[in-house]
Amino acid sequence: MHKILVLGAAGQIGSELTLALRQKYGNENVIAADIKTHPDKQITEAGPFLHADCMDKQAILSIVNQYKPDAIFHLAAILSAVAEENPQKAWSVNMTCLQNVLEVARSVPCQVFFPSSIAAFGPSTPITFTPQDTVQRPTTIYGVTKVAGELFCDYYFQKYGVDTRGLRFPGLISYHTLPGGGTTDFAVEMYYKALKHKKYTCCLRANTQLPIMYMPDAIRAAIELMEVNPSKLKHRNAFNIHAMTISPDDIVHSIRKFVPGFTINYQVDELLQQIANSWPRSLDDSAAHKEWGWKPHFNLDKMSEDMIKNLSLKLNMSVQA
Ligand code: NAD
Ligand code: SER
Repeated sequence: MHKILVLGAAGQIGSELTLALRQKYGNENVIAADIKTHPDKQITEAGPFLHADCMDKQAILSIVNQYKPDAIFHLAAILSAVAEENPQKAWSVNMTCLQNVLEVARSVPCQVFFPSSIAAFGPSTPITFTPQDTVQRPTTIYGVTKVAGELFCDYYFQKYGVDTRGLRFPGLISYHTLPGGGTTDFAVEMYYKALKHKKYTCCLRANTQLPIMYMPDAIRAAIELMEVNPSKLKHRNAFNIHAMTISPDDIVHSIRKFVPGFTINYQVDELLQQIANSWPRSLDDSAAHKEWGWKPHFNLDKMSEDMIKNLSLKLNMSVQA
């Protein structure tokens, strides 16, 4: 990779990925684009930022013709909770945007990164140590778009030779940008509410175990996968990656080590609970480990310590981890 386009750059992942890529490849070599007109200044001021709707193939093509990237990270999508409110729109946005990106990449050509999710699995998938290659019958529209997206990327590689690569991200925790409407957003909110109010009302049951990852690990995984020599890849798209399996109750206990007196109560949202129950608890990520050396750096307490330290600075609070 030398010149990189990040689509959906103003979101939870894109905002941090753009900064990490600019640090590594140079500000001018990382072009950020999003449908949002006023994202964080860190994204718009350090390097090129363009307003673009990925539903419009010509808009993507004109950015690509102007800047000539050799890699696209395609992050524009509708996430699980919001998708269930309008499944028709979620299918249309998630699939049309991906098709537009793949078509543009085919014509240039350039590499494409597609983020899949633990949501690509469903209730009939083995729930623990979910294998890399296994049953994929998700029961959410978001999950359906993720399975279709994985296959779409495989197809463009096999049929047209587009260098597509991808990861199945777990729920991601970060302090830079708030999450955009997923089932795992509660995990991020817990840290904000712990610092601001010392109490939180959680939408999932206390013992709901989910795969979770800290954003620095997720960003590093995406960049490492895109940088690896393609001859090493057997799977290419949709690598399982895993860091930790944790429940809301586990997060409370970890936060209390840094914010004593933090309290939680539970008001279960049945739709979100049903979505969470349909996802795996842990994933077998040995293919990622073998093919490109994937390894997580953060466990729960290390993540909590870093989250609380950085959120305290961001929110100008006195609690210091
Ligand atoms: P997000 O909602 O925070 O960000 C998505 C960004 O895409 C937003 O800034 C939004 O404005 C932009 N966008 C939406 N529609 C667009 C369009 N038509 N044209 C241009 N931009 C558009 O989401 P995120 O958490 O950053 O997720 C990015 C990708 O990673 C998604 O594909 C998501 O499914 C996947 N993923 C995220 C997680 C997670 O926990 N955050 C986990 C698994 C997979
Ligand atoms: N964190 C994402 C969501 O909850 C998983 O893809 O939608």
